[in-house]
Amino acid sequence: MEGVIDAITRDLLTRTPGFDWTVTEFVRVVDTRLPPRVFHRHCPELTEARPVTPAGAPVHLQLLGSDPAALAANARQALRLGATSLDLNFGCPAKLVNRHDGGASMLRDPRRVRAAVAAVHDAVGDTIPVTAKVRLGFDDRRLALACAQAAEDGGARQLVVHGRTRREGYRPPAHWEWIGRIRARLSIPVIANGDIWSLEDYWKARTLSGCCDVMLGRGALADPALAPRIRHWQATGEHLPPTTWDTRSRVLADYAALQRNILPDKIVVSLLKQWLNHMRSRDAEAARRFQALRRLTELDAFLDGLCADTRRDVALLA
Ligand SMILES: Cc1cc2nc3c(=O)[nH]c(=O)nc-3n(C[C@H](O)[C@H](O)[C@H](O)COP(=O)(O)O)c2cc1C
Repeated sequence: MEGVIDAITRDLLTRTPGFDWTVTEFVRVVDTRLPPRVFHRHCPELTEARPVTPAGAPVHLQLLGSDPAALAANARQALRLGATSLDLNFGCPAKLVNRHDGGASMLRDPRRVRAAVAAVHDAVGDTIPVTAKVRLGFDDRRLALACAQAAEDGGARQLVVHGRTRREGYRPPAHWEWIGRIRARLSIPVIANGDIWSLEDYWKARTLSGCCDVMLGRGALADPALAPRIRHWQATGEHLPPTTWDTRSRVLADYAALQRNILPDKIVVSLLKQWLNHMRSRDAEAARRFQALRRLTELDAFLDGLCADTRRDVALLA
C-alpha cells in the first residue's frame, strides 16, 4: 500500500506466520526504463538472494502503468534485479494516477488491460509469474468480467479483485458476490479483497465470493494479528481472542525502533500516527491513545504514551 506498507511494515506483519506473500508499493512506470535505485527503494528486499521478508514471506514487486512497451522494459529490469513475481496494478483510484492513465483508469478498456499484461508476460516469459490486481470497474461494473478475463488472456497467473469500482473509492460495502462472479468465469486463481477487518468478515467474503484466499489491506494495519488469526481459524476452527492493545502497541514500538534508524524522529511520529489512525477504527484503546497523543511531535514522548500502562499515565501525558 503506497505510503503505508514499506519493507519495515512487511517485516513486522510477517513475523508471525499468516501471510503467504506480500506486495510492494507500486512502482510508477511512465515512458522510460527506471534505474535500479527506484526498484530498490520500493523493494529493498531485492538486495537479498531472493526478495523475501526476514521471516521468509515472498515479496511481489508491483508495477503501475499503461504503456505496454514501458511496462515491458521495466519488467525486464525488475527481473534482472532479482524480482521473482510481478504484479500489475489496475486498481489505484488516485486522481493524479488516473489522469495520467494509470491504475483503475485502465479498466475503461479491457483491450488495454490485456495488452499491458501480455507485454509484461512476453517480456519475462515463463521465468517468473505475472499477476494482476483490479477493481470491479471505473465508473460502474459493466466491464468487470471483461477486464478480469482480459487479465487472464494476457497471461496473468492469478488475479486479486478489490470488490469496488473506482467511483466507489473505499466506501463500504465491498461487493464480495461480484468477486464470486469473476471467480466463476476465470480459470486462474482469484483472490478476494476489500473490507476484511475481522474473522467474521473473512468468513463472509469467502462464502460470498467462493474464494479460498483473501488479500488484506487496511485490516492488517488495524489488526496486525488478523492474518495469523485467520490462519489459526483455518487450521483449527478455533477463534483466538481479540488482539490486545499490548500486542498492537508492541508492533508500533518495534516499527518506531526500526524506522528511527533511517528517518528523522518527526517523520517517524507522523508514520506512527498514520498507523495508529488505522488501528483506532477497530480498537477502543487505540482510539483513546490516538486522541490523547495526536498533538505530540516528539518521538520519545509519543512512544511513552503508546506504551504507558494505565489510563492515568496516558491522561497525564496528554
Ligand atoms: C493508503 C492506501 C494505499 C494503497 N496503495 C496500494 C498500492 O500501492 N497497490 C495496490 O495494489 N493497492 C493499494 N491500495 C489498495 C489496497 O491494497 C486494497 O486493495 C484496498 O485498500 C481494499 O482492501 P482493504 O479494505 O483490505 O484495505 C492502497 C490502499 C490505501 C488505503
